Amino acid sequence: MSLNSSELELLGKRFDTYITHEEIKTVVKRLALKINQDYEGREVVLLGVLDGVVVFLADLMRELQIELSIELIKLKSYSGTESTGSVKEFIGLSQSLENKHVLIVEDIIDTGETLQYLLQQLEKEQAGSVEIVTLLLKEEVFCEKFPIKYVGKKIENKFVLGFGMDFDGWGRQLPDIYALKGQ
Ligand code: IMP
Ligand code: MG
Repeated sequence: MSLNSSELELLGKRFDTYITHEEIKTVVKRLALKINQDYEGREVVLLGVLDGVVVFLADLMRELQIELSIELIKLKSYSGTESTGSVKEFIGLSQSLENKHVLIVEDIIDTGETLQYLLQQLEKEQAGSVEIVTLLLKEEVFCEKFPIKYVGKKIENKFVLGFGMDFDGWGRQLPDIYALKGQ
């Protein structure tokens, strides 16, 4: 991985800075403020979708003043820089979600296939409520397939990495978010 001021090269592909860490911090604070208001007096289970969510979840939960626990699950639909469209696995739930207020936490929603699958699976759990918070949303690709209560930022249909999001497993530790050049 080679990095200069605003450009990054990773696995032979070039990326430009797209969303700075400063802007991300503002977005996270704004989301947390709303969640704190909406869930005041209630306990919430933050259901984080691994692996991409770890950085966002860590930052978001530290801004939340409500009572919360976390559940980390794994679902996968991506290969390289394109969504494969089919979810292959769902593992990791360690408690019953019955009657709980579940807030699914996602780093980015692209086609929405991953979440659609998760929402279907969660129906069996009979949670008290299920909402979604995502840092980023590729609005054009997603086409409002289902309601998303908390959206950090709507972005163009570009492949991005950094702040937890990867390109074939790399780049998750970058504090800023980068977008693939020439898309
Ligand atoms: P979806 O099922 O197409 O909505 O894809 C959802 C998952 O794919 C996200 O939770 C991410 O982990 C990953 N993903 C989607 N778009 C990107 C991207 O631009 N960069 C890195 N990962 C992405
Ligand atoms: Mg994800």
